Amino acid sequence: MRIQFKYDLGSQNTFRLKVSCECFVEYDTLKELEGLNFDALPKPILHIGEGSNLLFRGDFPGTVLHSNIEYIKYVDIGLDEVPVMLGSGVTFDSFVAEACRHGLWGAENLSMIPGEVGAAAVQNIGAYGVEVADIISGVVCYDLKERKKVKFSRQECRYGYRSSIFKQPEFKGRYIVTSVLFRLSRKPAPNLGYKGLEEALGGVVPTTPTQVREAVIALRDSKLPDPCKIGSAGSFFKNPVVSAEQFARISPDASAPHYRLPDGTVKVPAAWMIDSCGLKGRSVGGARVWEKQPLVIVNSDGRATAEDILSLEKQIIDSVWERFGVTLEPEVEHI
Ligand code: EPU
Repeated sequence: MRIQFKYDLGSQNTFRLKVSCECFVEYDTLKELEGLNFDALPKPILHIGEGSNLLFRGDFPGTVLHSNIEYIKYVDIGLDEVPVMLGSGVTFDSFVAEACRHGLWGAENLSMIPGEVGAAAVQNIGAYGVEVADIISGVVCYDLKERKKVKFSRQECRYGYRSSIFKQPEFKGRYIVTSVLFRLSRKPAPNLGYKGLEEALGGVVPTTPTQVREAVIALRDSKLPDPCKIGSAGSFFKNPVVSAEQFARISPDASAPHYRLPDGTVKVPAAWMIDSCGLKGRSVGGARVWEKQPLVIVNSDGRATAEDILSLEKQIIDSVWERFGVTLEPEVEHI
């Protein structure tokens, strides 16, 4: 375990904002976490993964915790379904890459999503028609209130679009995810429903998850900024869900891209709304709306401040509200 004070969080947030925290704690095992004297740590306490979905508004006055629990354990007993237990500090994409190499299906559509396993299970990350909840069987946490280990079944995690019980106001900050149980499949189970994925595969029916992974990587490369070169936090906003009547007002001829949900509501891509407002490339200071996918705000010159990003966020929310009567909600967590 490492405990550091006045710690620079520049490399702990993918927006690459220059911020610091009072205290930074990295632990390697659940035992170390259990042994930590929380009462003595500067408050508030914030647990982060790779910091790929966070916007620090400024220096953090409390303690930032980070898991270095990094193990991958396959429970392969020769059945079609292969349970895999992972420590919360494993980089999510290294798990996806390894699963694909082993010919195990289920995670391939989630290729190259930045972040770590613990945060993935909190945030219910998703891409190309798959959400991580689809392949999670259970989550193990440390309960900061009761100071003990607790297990959640997938149902108990109450997963929804980019949400889970761990993000609900009454539980937020209470549970620290320490490991996640996934179930992958040895049987081919390609999920190619997402627009563009079949074309990216060049019409080939994939026989290995690696083929799907490569197509997903090519698609992401064509739209999203390269995290090694430019700071961002991926999608900045959630895709709004509107009523059927509201959608008819937004797009009377229904020509706007949309997905009708089973309950009659309609999900409309925020990227399309932002694009329709002519905001691609709009910038404030060092913050800019990414031209190839306007749902993403980037730190274009590495010098963006939280104020630049917040001011651009406000311009986008106001423009979309004025044009469509819809209030965009940020997906990125503001700290
Ligand atoms: N669109 C435009 N103009 C553009 C770009 C997109 O009009 O410049 C429209 C297109 O009609 C397109 C639609 O927006 O069909 C949706 O775009 P895209 O397929 O890129 O997906 P998204 O809904 O904007 C979501 C996730 C992404 C994920 C992609 C792919 C959210 C908030 N975002 O974006 O997740 O990679 O689907 O599955 O759900 C992330 O969460 O950080 C993230 C990048």
